[in-house]
Amino acid sequence: MSNKEIKTVAVIGTGTMGVGIVQGFAEAGLAVKMIARRQESLDQGVALLKANLALFKEFNLLKEAPEAILARVEPIATTDQAAACKGADFVLETIQEVYDMKRPIFEALDAMPEDVIIASNTSSMTMDKLTDGLKTQHRMLGVHYFNPAHIIPAVEIHKNAKTTQEAVDRTKALLLKAGKKPVVVLKSLPGFIINRLTGAMEREVDNLLDNGVVTPEDLDIAVRASYGFRLANLGPMEAEDMIGLDTAARVSGNVFKVLSNATEASPDLIKKVERGELGIKSGKGWYDYSGQTREQVNDKINRRLLKQLALFRSVEN
Ligand SMILES: NC(=O)c1ccc[n+]([C@@H]2O[C@H](COP(=O)([O-])OP(=O)(O)OC[C@H]3O[C@@H](n4cnc5c(N)ncnc54)[C@H](O)[C@@H]3O)[C@@H](O)[C@H]2O)c1
Repeated sequence: MSNKEIKTVAVIGTGTMGVGIVQGFAEAGLAVKMIARRQESLDQGVALLKANLALFKEFNLLKEAPEAILARVEPIATTDQAAACKGADFVLETIQEVYDMKRPIFEALDAMPEDVIIASNTSSMTMDKLTDGLKTQHRMLGVHYFNPAHIIPAVEIHKNAKTTQEAVDRTKALLLKAGKKPVVVLKSLPGFIINRLTGAMEREVDNLLDNGVVTPEDLDIAVRASYGFRLANLGPMEAEDMIGLDTAARVSGNVFKVLSNATEASPDLIKKVERGELGIKSGKGWYDYSGQTREQVNDKINRRLLKQLALFRSVEN
């Protein structure tokens, strides 16, 4: 390993997450190899990247013209991902969450020079499992972004048992340079930090809806205008300090015992899935999106989130 500055990044996969991840690195002044398997998905990825940059410009969130940022991105369509990564100091795999697809990529990247950091955006696999038995496991780690990756600031860094502190430190420095808020997961466990917390909340959300305690619409208002309103700027630990740890302990003691301890998704949620009500992508989920394209709905969501990003950056900086 080395402390060599990371100047070139390769992102493998140009789907939902890959495109947003490319944008952050290119905005930070890094050269980015944007690697897809097929020319068609590469073209779609580049088109989405351009549209996302235009929206960032509209919200005054870019330090440079979109063209200058795009000029640092090298789109590559190839079936030889490892060859395309040649010259990169940091490689991030963002392909589908399928072990048998990801593993061959890690096997091929194992041969890269040892000062190159190799990462996965996996959301559910531990890096112990994904990199087990590889020769250079020590420079491999997980870098878990949140969707939409070009907007949500946090990124979880998670390790396998052999990942070096140096690899973690260099990755953290790179993510900070890319304007992200990296956090390190200290133990190898499924769901890392945030998917465990959202899972805990979703379980109770399902419970409240199943029991007719609240409508989906009021539930969204309640969360956004209370807990959610506070969380963007005051984390749970800061909030507990504000509430008083004695009060927090008493409330937990009273409430924990009446919370759902379900181990499966709620029957109502499963029925919706069986009816094909999958959310924005099928035109109906908890809300009805009929009459709007997926792009139109996503555009509205992104605009709401970009206002939030501008505010978050103004508070953080
Ligand atoms: N979608 C999310 O909300 C989200 C959030 C956090 C993490 N993740 C994780 O990010 C990863 C990617 O998820 P996604 O939603 O972007 O998937 P996606 O299906 O949108 O994109 C994956 C892309 O990888 C391409 N691909 C497949 N094999 C390839 C190869 N060998 N070389 C180059 N490209 C290849 C596919 O053609 C596709 O374009 C997964 O591990 C997922 O668990 C997803």
